[in-house]
Amino acid sequence: MLERLDRLPNDPILGLMAAFRADPDASKVDLGVGVYRNDRGETPVVEAVRQAEQAVLKRQTTKTYVAPAGNAGFNQAMERLVLGDDHPALAAGRVRSIQAPGGCGALRLGAELVRAAAPQSIVHVSTPTWANHIPLLSGCGLELGRYPYFDPATGAVNFDAMLGALDKLPARSVVLLHASCHNPTGADLSEAQWRELLPLFKRRGLLPYIDMAYQGLGSGVAEDAFGVRLFTTELPEVLVAVSCSKNFGLYRERTGSLHIVNETTTAADAVLSQLVRIARSIYSMPPDHGAAIVLEVLSNEALTRSWTEELTGMRKRIQGLREDLVKRLTAAYPQRDFAYIAKQRGMFSYLGVDTNQVRELRAKHHVYMTDDSRINIAGLRAQNIEYFAEAVAKVLRQN
Ligand code: LMR
Repeated sequence: MLERLDRLPNDPILGLMAAFRADPDASKVDLGVGVYRNDRGETPVVEAVRQAEQAVLKRQTTKTYVAPAGNAGFNQAMERLVLGDDHPALAAGRVRSIQAPGGCGALRLGAELVRAAAPQSIVHVSTPTWANHIPLLSGCGLELGRYPYFDPATGAVNFDAMLGALDKLPARSVVLLHASCHNPTGADLSEAQWRELLPLFKRRGLLPYIDMAYQGLGSGVAEDAFGVRLFTTELPEVLVAVSCSKNFGLYRERTGSLHIVNETTTAADAVLSQLVRIARSIYSMPPDHGAAIVLEVLSNEALTRSWTEELTGMRKRIQGLREDLVKRLTAAYPQRDFAYIAKQRGMFSYLGVDTNQVRELRAKHHVYMTDDSRINIAGLRAQNIEYFAEAVAKVLRQN
């Protein structure tokens, strides 16, 4: 039976990781997968995470099961991190949370929940969106729609087009929004734009599904949660999928959470029972290790402070790289305006070159990025940023 299966192409992002590792060239530059790197090109274990991990291991006396919804302390700590301490829906007991195997696991759980509630739902994603949103959200059988989002001419959100499209959606449409650090464009909604979107969601009865994978890496922990906190305060139902991969550097530990704001506590209980059943039918229970570490960090003042400081350092480094890159690209290729890169937030920006130029950068200069020219800014460093800018200029001059 299995011999009938076709061999599939590599994943567009993970395939690049393998190609980069296989390239023996000493000058190679990895701007592919969205992983934070320091100026030595390393992704070190966050210091607070290292200390928390030791404390967790020292105290651990058993490896028995935790629970299908995961670690209750972790779920509560994540609710406060994401929604803020004094959230009215938390006070009213209308939020239910489940620990998930990474942000991907959370996204899939939320999609399965939507399908259980309303199998005909269409989930509308931004154009463009993170490549893996498509299989994660549609893999359970939900239909996907698209709304315009990014304007390549300005490097910013095409807000009028976005509003116009969302204003035509039928009630109960699900709309996937990126909380901050939009992947792949780096173009975020401003606070004013979130405020303007809110009445539209209310008026049209749309269900927001917010993906928060980069809290703290854009403008700050609270700042990056602005839209999440506004929508979850003002709307009766919101889904929020959260990843701890990037801001805690827990990539391989698969640590994430899904938070659902419900209209009533009765609905909230029903939702949690459904989520637990869904989780049980896919992976039964989430891995514990990363969640135990996050709980340790967030429940210890000194570790929280250390984590916040390191996260601030990561954010500032990315922003500094953005500004440096604009200067170098502008000097190397003054014909083009690259200023948008410094205005964007998070790890990603589009370089704005076509697929052939992306391939040429890879083949001739050993610079790796996805075919849509998304670059991971955090992959740049003092040692390679000038080389990269020169390589881009060479390719642009040739075409
Ligand atoms: C990315 O967009 O590169 C990251 O979110 C990693 C991944 O899993 O795709």
